[in-house]
Amino acid sequence: MAAITPLKKVLILGAYGMLGHDLQRAFPHAEFRGRDLDITDAGKIAKAIHNLNPTLVINASGYTDVDGCEDHRDLAFAVNGDSLVHISRACRDTGAVLIQYSSDYVFDGTKKSYREDDVPHPINVYGESKLLGEKNIQENMADYRIIRTSWLFGKHGKNFVETMLRLSSEMPQVRVVNDQFGKPTFTADLAQKTVDIAQSQPGIYHITNDGICSWYDFARAIIPNVVPCSTAEYPRKAKRPAYSVLTNTKTTPMRPWKEALKTYLKERTL
Ligand SMILES: NC(=O)c1ccc[n+]([C@@H]2O[C@H](COP(=O)([O-])OP(=O)(O)OC[C@H]3O[C@@H](n4cnc5c(N)ncnc54)[C@H](OP(=O)(O)O)[C@@H]3O)[C@@H](O)[C@H]2O)c1
Repeated sequence: MAAITPLKKVLILGAYGMLGHDLQRAFPHAEFRGRDLDITDAGKIAKAIHNLNPTLVINASGYTDVDGCEDHRDLAFAVNGDSLVHISRACRDTGAVLIQYSSDYVFDGTKKSYREDDVPHPINVYGESKLLGEKNIQENMADYRIIRTSWLFGKHGKNFVETMLRLSSEMPQVRVVNDQFGKPTFTADLAQKTVDIAQSQPGIYHITNDGICSWYDFARAIIPNVVPCSTAEYPRKAKRPAYSVLTNTKTTPMRPWKEALKTYLKERTL
């Protein structure tokens, strides 16, 4: 099947989140919608997509508070799961391609790394809700790109890098877990890569910056006063997979996360 170019008329949902802001730069001529278009409102979504008749819809919205999802299960499933039924049906009916972002947390972390065709098995509500979103898309349309990504940091949202910088200035030592491994990903790089993925074949993609680390390794690259601890010593409401390492077997890799972090740290105050 030949690659297609569905970039003529682009609608970005969740355009004011961390990734959404960077998508605005990558797709400058797109129509940007934020909270004004509630993705759980089936009628409003159908109307917006039918009226605009886009060639590509990118959904960057989501309920992304992993611990919050444990307390607000219904909201998590409504935003991350059920909304993808009406978004994908509207895309199918208008012939638009849909790009959806999913997560490394659809996997349980019992393997050292996960390919696109590995069978998901989430261990927290956030992961379950993101997996439901994937399934709803696959059941309702064919021309989709599901981009699973991980450990996002970007200029326009709360993220691990900013948390480390703040804690580092507030306390003598910051404790960070050394037994959860993944791939940090810069939202500006992911947004730019989304342009390529839009023009690639339908399917699931694993897109992250290159290189594996623990949260502790990641923290050490940001601040000096960090000490390792175990997950058992730092319990959280939602269980996290020990290895949520996404392997990309389909497209050219992005640059190493350490390089991306350097760019972020240089640009964050500009
Ligand atoms: N952050 C990560 O580490 C990570 C990792 C893997 C995958 N992902 C996925 O990547 C995507 C982007 O993540 P992100 O970190 O950029 O998220 P984010 O900063 O939390 O942005 C999500 C946006 O969605 C909006 N939103 C929430 N509920 C909505 C609704 N019902 N209708 C319309 N908009 C709604 C939020 O608005 P409010 O701010 O007003 O709530 C926010 O602007 C998400 O699909 C996420 O699941 C993220």
